[in-house]
Amino acid sequence: MIGIFDSGYGGLTILQQIRSVLPEYDYLYLGDNARAPYGTRSFDCIYRYTLEAVQFLLAHHCTLIILACNTASAKALRTIQQHDLPVINSKLQAEDTDHLPATGASRKVNVLGVIRPTVEAVSSVTKTGHVGVLATPATVSSESYVLELNKIADQLTVVQQPCPMWVPLIESGEHTDEGADYFVDKYLREILAKDPLIDTLVLGCTHYPLLLPKIEKWLKTHSPKPVAALPQGKLVAYSLADYLRRHPEYERQLTREGSCRYLTTDDADKFNQAAALFLGTPIHSEHVSF
Ligand code: DGL
Repeated sequence: MIGIFDSGYGGLTILQQIRSVLPEYDYLYLGDNARAPYGTRSFDCIYRYTLEAVQFLLAHHCTLIILACNTASAKALRTIQQHDLPVINSKLQAEDTDHLPATGASRKVNVLGVIRPTVEAVSSVTKTGHVGVLATPATVSSESYVLELNKIADQLTVVQQPCPMWVPLIESGEHTDEGADYFVDKYLREILAKDPLIDTLVLGCTHYPLLLPKIEKWLKTHSPKPVAALPQGKLVAYSLADYLRRHPEYERQLTREGSCRYLTTDDADKFNQAAALFLGTPIHSEHVSF
């Protein structure tokens, strides 16, 4: 099973695109809505919450986990990959050696993020070479986008804008109201003032596609030249498809019944209502705690 994790609803924008590209697999979505937003929290806190979520998903038969959250990808992924996964995988290997699995192959789990697949697409989109990154304060302070973009194309000029109010607006369902216009205007105005040559704005938080209609409307009416807003869902979905082609050792462990279960650490009815709006289809979620 593929686990998809986000602090709240944002990862649904990634899940939706992944399922449209890879509908055959089984998915388990986990939204830590009770503790969202993550984007204004400390490194230690984001790492601890993310590791708890990863351990929960592993205990629920996920063998591949996507951190469908830039904040978790920026702050926790590297430590999980370098420190925690080796321990988890060597435990699995020891168990498999003891129990001689029928397949003869040891289980192996992996955790992937959303920043790398996004960054890989950016340099082919920008024409001016000036890129803006809209993200949570935690993602901005990690400098992950700046570092990764510079690794791929060191001639790019990258400017960041923290948008601390966007996730709370989305988590509270206020993102389509007029009140949200104030904060859309504020952050877009600020980032374009920092660098008027920006022609590509990376939506570096998986919640932000829910504000895309307002963002695009603002750009059309306020920007003197075309500026593209780039959501991540499709980029992550195609990158995952490519990853599975290149890594049969993970692909063959995935179950394939096309199912999707939704779990939330907050109220399930509230999650059902909000998720149905985001996904355009009714869903049934379950409350979990860990
Ligand atoms: N969707 C998360 C991200 O991509 C939101 C983080 C938050 O909870 O603040 O960064």
